[in-house]
Amino acid sequence: MEPNTSFIRLVYASRATFPTGADSGSVNADVARILMQSRRNNPANGLVGALYLAEGCFFQCLEGPAEAVDGLYRRLGSDPRHRDLAVLSRESIQQPSFSSWSMKYVPNASVVRQLLERHRLRSFDPYSFDPATLSDMVALLLSGPDAVIGDRAEPPRPAGTGDALAIARRAQVLASVALVGAVLAIALAIVF
Ligand SMILES: Cc1cc2nc3c(=O)[nH]c(=O)nc-3n(C[C@H](O)[C@H](O)[C@H](O)COP(=O)(O)O)c2cc1C
Repeated sequence: MEPNTSFIRLVYASRATFPTGADSGSVNADVARILMQSRRNNPANGLVGALYLAEGCFFQCLEGPAEAVDGLYRRLGSDPRHRDLAVLSRESIQQPSFSSWSMKYVPNASVVRQLLERHRLRSFDPYSFDPATLSDMVALLLSGPDAVIGDRAEPPRPAGTGDALAIARRAQVLASVALVGAVLAIALAIVF
């Protein structure tokens, strides 16, 4: 990427045109298809971001070179899987924040319900978000859990998984060393 690339973050809301069902936390087949496309296309365009869907509304944060983000947004406008697209914010950024994800999908998590409660909102209606709610929602997408879609889980891995494995391996090595030490001690005791 060019050193003088100017990055932007664009956040928009839209309404899904397909039945999104009860917000059960499982990923709808249409959403899975959107995520597959996003994760296939975005890396080639230097795009990253996050997608959230609740109560029939999409909330998507797109980051990357201005031309790529604006180009994708234009294409999104003619995607029949959603309608009523509205840009909620478009700002320059130094560097993309979602750089670990070509398109993170945050499931309809309890953390979002807590955010709505904090901002005294009864339902997920991103069209009515004020700037504070908007930036809280983007921060939450950054820190929130990531849903696993097929075999295309996005990093980072669940917290602690790697640590637990490393600790187990270290414990195994220590136990082997202790066993060898004990055998040696017994052998020495017998000899002397
Ligand atoms: C809510 C929503 C979010 C989407 N996000 C992306 C995206 O981040 N990147 C992308 O390439 N396509 C995204 N798409 C799909 C595009 O609208 C379009 O179908 C796709 O880019 C076409 O790519 P293809 O010709 O490689 O299939 C999204 C569609 C919807 C409905």
